[in-house]
Amino acid sequence: MDAATLRENLKRAGQENALRFYEKLSPQGRQKLGEQLQAQDFSVLGELARDYVIHKPQVAIPKDIKPVPIYPRDPGDKYRQLYQNARQRGIELLKGGKIAAFLVAGGQGTRLGYDGPKGEFPVTPIKNKPLFQVFAEQLLAWSRDSGKSIPWYIMTSDVNDAPTRSFFRQHNFFGYPPADIFFFQQGMMPAFSMDGQLLLAEKDSLALSPDGHGGSLRALDRSGALADLRKRGIEHLSYFQVDNPLVHCIDPLFLGLHDLTGSEMSSKTIPKAGPLEKVGNFVTGDGVVQVIEYSDLPDALAKETNSDGTLRFNAGSIAIHALRVDFIDRLNHGGQLKLPWHRAEKKVSYVDDTGNPVKPDKPNAVKLEQFVFDAIPLAKNAIVYETDRAEEFSPVKNAEGSDSPATCKRDQIRRAARWLRDAGVAVPERNGEPDATLEISPLYATTE
Ligand code: UTP
Repeated sequence: MDAATLRENLKRAGQENALRFYEKLSPQGRQKLGEQLQAQDFSVLGELARDYVIHKPQVAIPKDIKPVPIYPRDPGDKYRQLYQNARQRGIELLKGGKIAAFLVAGGQGTRLGYDGPKGEFPVTPIKNKPLFQVFAEQLLAWSRDSGKSIPWYIMTSDVNDAPTRSFFRQHNFFGYPPADIFFFQQGMMPAFSMDGQLLLAEKDSLALSPDGHGGSLRALDRSGALADLRKRGIEHLSYFQVDNPLVHCIDPLFLGLHDLTGSEMSSKTIPKAGPLEKVGNFVTGDGVVQVIEYSDLPDALAKETNSDGTLRFNAGSIAIHALRVDFIDRLNHGGQLKLPWHRAEKKVSYVDDTGNPVKPDKPNAVKLEQFVFDAIPLAKNAIVYETDRAEEFSPVKNAEGSDSPATCKRDQIRRAARWLRDAGVAVPERNGEPDATLEISPLYATTE
């Protein structure tokens, strides 16, 4: 696209101001800014600025909100046979090479404040293995046991792609076959000033950030990952996020249940720690399975209880999913991939109209992200399966306090102690906690 067309397009979107330094830029600077701008969808920029930035969008919550049906962790008599079949189906899918792992690791990890991709963060209690290694070893163990190497798709973003790839190379891919790892980048979204103008981080550069984990559904297609999945004959993706080393990257029962029920997108849930815990809530809204964010679920509903005192809306979302490859294809090629944008006010450094750099001390910008769980209502037969928090969820989000490296290590040790006890090993205890620092290599204990 030549400069005149670019200017014309931006003008139509009300964003011509992004080119205010253009004439004075070096040829490299013009090229850089030009490429960043052309990567944007001009037809929606103006709309986004109006509907999500200048005006705060009203979050439409469903009129009729009911608890979601859940496949319980404990099968009881009702589900015993189904779960046995599901587990067996999951193993068959693995043996048949029908499952790939999908890690989303494109986020900025600002809350943790680690200088580098979050997956490099040393997370285990003794060996200090980085998050990436924990996942790699789990997947290696399942590949070994099923006799079929599990292809591993890893989504990065412009903020961490090069360091992520070089970290894997430096560590010899943690023993993973490099031909079975497929790195790809998600899209980037520009930050807007509160009055809806694109912010420039530099005179020749937009202030860009990753477009949210929901961007993964688009990026799978655009990057060629979807074509690669097709070529390999993969049917399902096992989706997980980079911050939770307790996740069972592969869970035959869950994957088998997803397959047998004909679900296009399945999710794991855990019982909430309390009515207002800051996790998304699985509900059936106007007849469709979906997630309502904690901030959008009315308190009165969040606090409703059943006759036995348990919470009526107790299904917390932990960002673990199974996705059918056909579903991702349909979303991208059937014109349905229109996930809503979520608005967050943030501090974003920028250059002002005169070209001076400004480092704001309070939120000055709006960032927009898409969330992967917003695809659930678009999926046929979506199911929700319950897992156990102590077994599978302890993310590293913050540097200190809740969901921090300290709580995550504690939870890894507790889980290892439980596994050892279950295997008949006496684990010393003090004040109800394991009195030992424990770590079990994922290579020697496939999680189920
Ligand atoms: P978070 O919502 O915790 O965001 O991501 P974050 O960017 O990692 O961290 P903060 O909010 O800046 O502290 C949950 C998961 O989704 C991935 C992250 O890498 C993490 O695995 N993610 C998030 C992406 O892959 N892309 C994004 O644009 C956002």
